[in-house]
Amino acid sequence: MLDSFGRHITYLRLSLTERCTLKCSYCRKDEGECPKAEELSADEFIRLTRVFADLGIQKVRLTGGEPLLRHEILEIVAGISRIPGVSDLSLTTNGQFLAPLAKGLKAAGLERVNISLDSLNPITFNKLTGGDLQLTLEGIQAAIEAGLTPVRLNCVLMRGVNDGEVEALLRLTKENPIDMRFIEYMPIGENPGYAGVSNQELIDRFPDLIAVPPRYPFQVAKEFRLPGHLGRVGLISAISDHFCGECNRIRVTSDGKARPCLASDVEIDLRDALKKHDDAGLEALIRQAVWAKPRQHQFGLHNPVGRNMRRIGG
Ligand code: 5AD
Repeated sequence: MLDSFGRHITYLRLSLTERCTLKCSYCRKDEGECPKAEELSADEFIRLTRVFADLGIQKVRLTGGEPLLRHEILEIVAGISRIPGVSDLSLTTNGQFLAPLAKGLKAAGLERVNISLDSLNPITFNKLTGGDLQLTLEGIQAAIEAGLTPVRLNCVLMRGVNDGEVEALLRLTKENPIDMRFIEYMPIGENPGYAGVSNQELIDRFPDLIAVPPRYPFQVAKEFRLPGHLGRVGLISAISDHFCGECNRIRVTSDGKARPCLASDVEIDLRDALKKHDDAGLEALIRQAVWAKPRQHQFGLHNPVGRNMRRIGG
């Protein structure tokens, strides 16, 4: 599918739920969430993805909320992985429930996972997320053992909170099939007053980082490697150096609304057409959503996003 600026849209980010057991302070406040009853069913997610794939979507990422809270997660992964045309299926998780599920996810057809890891200090981790660092570390280990590799770890750096941990986080890439990703803090949904850390600052602080070609086509991270390290370091600079010109994404929320852009509240409701099994209607709505993609995000000008990241799926 081509959008109105000639960009090929090949990447679907599907949010399976807005529910999440963590409260990462850069992501959410205690605001309402889409009730469980509003979430699309496993079958609906699979059918919807099939229609997207017929229109040229090749890459699918399952997000949330926390997608592993959906107890039909293995069914959803298995169903989507069998759709002709879907060649890359991945999932973003907080890692808290991953350890017991990792092998099953791999067997069901998941290729790899992104896991949120903002601190290696159990107290900082808990302060920042409300979660248990040990569970996430066990999840990371299980993902490596299950072959959900390269395992990508997402970290949002905030000044005075976790920016002293970069070196320790980079060390994880030394002997493990782990790619460490630093994502610049984006002012989405609410602004808890964090000062993010720009990726340029990381490049200046770690001159050993060697730029390497991207692992996957169209990826938004600039990739680096430290000499002798197995894993890579990815820097996502949505704020300081946006990549909207190469955007290939479309998002769907867990209640069935297509979002043309992460940073805009425009939503196109796919739910009715999905409920009515109206595939032609669905196709028309999906094309409309793709056509509605703006040229560029508006972060920084003002804060245009009502749903926070947990509700959109990043
Ligand atoms: N800014 C940047 N990244 C964010 N994430 C969530 N909220 C934000 C934000 N405001 C990213 C984190 C998390 C992933 C699920 O989404 O990297 O690990």
